[in-house]
Amino acid sequence: MNQNNLKGIILAGGSGSRLAPLTNSLSKQLLPVYDKPMIYYPLSTLMLMGVKDILLITTSRDQSLFKNLLGTGENFGIKISYEVQEEPKGVPQAFLLAEKFIGNSKVVLILGDNIFYGHDLTNQLVNAASKDCDATIFAYRVQDPSRFGIINFNKDNIPTYIEEKPKASKSDFAITGIYIYKSNVVEYAKNLKPSERGELEITDLNNIYMKAKNLNVEILGRGIAWLDTGTFESLQDASFFIKTLEMRQGLKIGCPEEIAWRLNYIDDRKFGDISRKYIKSPYGNYLKKILKEKK
Ligand code: TTP
Repeated sequence: MNQNNLKGIILAGGSGSRLAPLTNSLSKQLLPVYDKPMIYYPLSTLMLMGVKDILLITTSRDQSLFKNLLGTGENFGIKISYEVQEEPKGVPQAFLLAEKFIGNSKVVLILGDNIFYGHDLTNQLVNAASKDCDATIFAYRVQDPSRFGIINFNKDNIPTYIEEKPKASKSDFAITGIYIYKSNVVEYAKNLKPSERGELEITDLNNIYMKAKNLNVEILGRGIAWLDTGTFESLQDASFFIKTLEMRQGLKIGCPEEIAWRLNYIDDRKFGDISRKYIKSPYGNYLKKILKEKK
């Protein structure tokens, strides 16, 4: 599949209630994960997949802050448009808000507080997106299944059912915050009914595809890190994780300007201009240094 036909959505609304008071006046997805705002990481994941048309869904309170940070996407050589989710009524609501944006395209949705990193990750995501199936989700082994949406498999590794935060689970495979769907996802999302907690549930949506035998489940192996950043501990852990890797290698993780430059979305001149804008920060020095080293 030509990745230019794949559109991207970053869902970065929500209430961030587990991070209060940090989130009393600022979106969770703008909080720092080590040396950059959290949103840079899911943005980088989509860019590495070759997605150039991205819809960013935020609360109305925070939209202008995201616009200040990311603008039209011009600095990253991509197009970023914006949509408001008035209230956090569930992940599938993103597809209703994005109906026009999606049109007839395949779409990848990533949660704004999910960080993915690891060997061959981009290839795995791109290959999955190129498969001719209606829906693809990504599962990851976790220590504590009771905190996640969990996918169960039969002995032939066929997915059998999805459970939301099971008390006792036969499976250790959590469903991560990145999902790929054909455009029929909009119609399916329209037919969902809110759950007891008043939200449209991504589990219900994925169960529809699974029952129709149209759900592809990709396993992300132990060479990949999947971090979420919704609690004080996990936010701090993610910062240390990124810091450890960056300090060791002298290379940045989740730097959208660098990705844009390496993918030739922006030229040396523009990249140099951006590095000068940040010159008092190690971030700018890093951009300057890699420009000198050349690709
Ligand atoms: P959650 O972590 O489930 O919710 P939250 O971010 O509001 O945080 P808390 O539980 O502390 O109140 O959401 C996961 C991601 O999905 C996060 O990036 C926010 C986003 N999200 C929305 O943007 N809209 C929604 O309706 C939901 C349910 C989540």
